[in-house]
Amino acid sequence: MLADVVVDLQYGDSGKGKVSHHLCRTKDYTHVIRYNGGCNAGHTIYHEGKKFVTHHIPCGVFFGVRSIIGPGCVVNAKQFLKELEELKESGFDVEELVKVASNAHVITDFHLAQDKKEESIGTTKKGNGPAYRDKYDRRGVRAIEIPEFAPYIVDMYTELHENEEFEEVKILFEGAQGFGLDIDWGDYPYVTSSHCTVGGAILNGVPPSCIRDVWGVAKVYETYVGAKQFEGPDPVFEKIRDAGEEYGATTGRPRQVNWMDIDTLKMAIDINGVNQLVLNKVDVLEKVKRWCVYSGFNAFEFDKADDMKLWITDELKTRVTNVTFSGDKHAI
Ligand code: IMP
Ligand code: MG
Repeated sequence: MLADVVVDLQYGDSGKGKVSHHLCRTKDYTHVIRYNGGCNAGHTIYHEGKKFVTHHIPCGVFFGVRSIIGPGCVVNAKQFLKELEELKESGFDVEELVKVASNAHVITDFHLAQDKKEESIGTTKKGNGPAYRDKYDRRGVRAIEIPEFAPYIVDMYTELHENEEFEEVKILFEGAQGFGLDIDWGDYPYVTSSHCTVGGAILNGVPPSCIRDVWGVAKVYETYVGAKQFEGPDPVFEKIRDAGEEYGATTGRPRQVNWMDIDTLKMAIDINGVNQLVLNKVDVLEKVKRWCVYSGFNAFEFDKADDMKLWITDELKTRVTNVTFSGDKHAI
């Protein structure tokens, strides 16, 4: 068995969907597994020129690869079935490919109603926190208990460890949210309720020894959606929001913008064991003609993109094997 992991090093919305889509297109996985979160996530994917926003379903479905919502996730049955329907209408073989782990947890109407009342964290109001709370309180509902999921249920042990269909099980783990929102490593309490690190991927039923590449994904600036103050005072952040279309894929909320913090990025790289780094949205800073990175209490301002890229690459050279700068929505 082998597995590559796609992990977000910031606050979500850094382009994991695009990187997962790229990996799926260029490598031969047998499974793509979403390993955390629920329909609070929104992955924007361009497939053959058409835009798709998925919330639950991993990107293997675009390539005929089995796509599993793993046990680390929480699933809303209505949203799941709606997404299946949309993908089916676009011609993808969802009935054959999409599976839900028997031990994934369910987001109920009660969870949704509770999250709707939430104000202090600025959640996506998709019932994520209450569903995880009930899971850990040992009174949650698992996917196997709900009739809507019956046609899609898989047992993860059988699927990954006793699978005779494939010579070798090769997994792409597609993460949701990001390091800055991780329940343990994020800026608590302004976090989500799941494990957004590589540790969270392993919780889905694979041994740590199977991990091959860890693809860390970040943007060359940062964005955050939620209740805390995050955006800096510089009016350029307004311009970046517009140029980068920084509005939530799930809720439509404007994302707060700030420069990238290289120290936080290094910490996220170290804790996740990232060896392949993708830094997205270089084109956006090109549009606003400002290039700046925080390190500690200092802000380093550069005259042009290449100067910033060189500086970042040099800062990270002892940590990662490759740094890819991308300024294209459709490719890395
Ligand atoms: P929850 O995950 O809906 O409970 O929200 C907790 C925090 O995580 C809030 O600040 C949300 O805006 C943020 N969040 C949750 N999912 C995403 C995502 O997919 N992208 C960006 N922020 C997210
Ligand atoms: Mg997103």
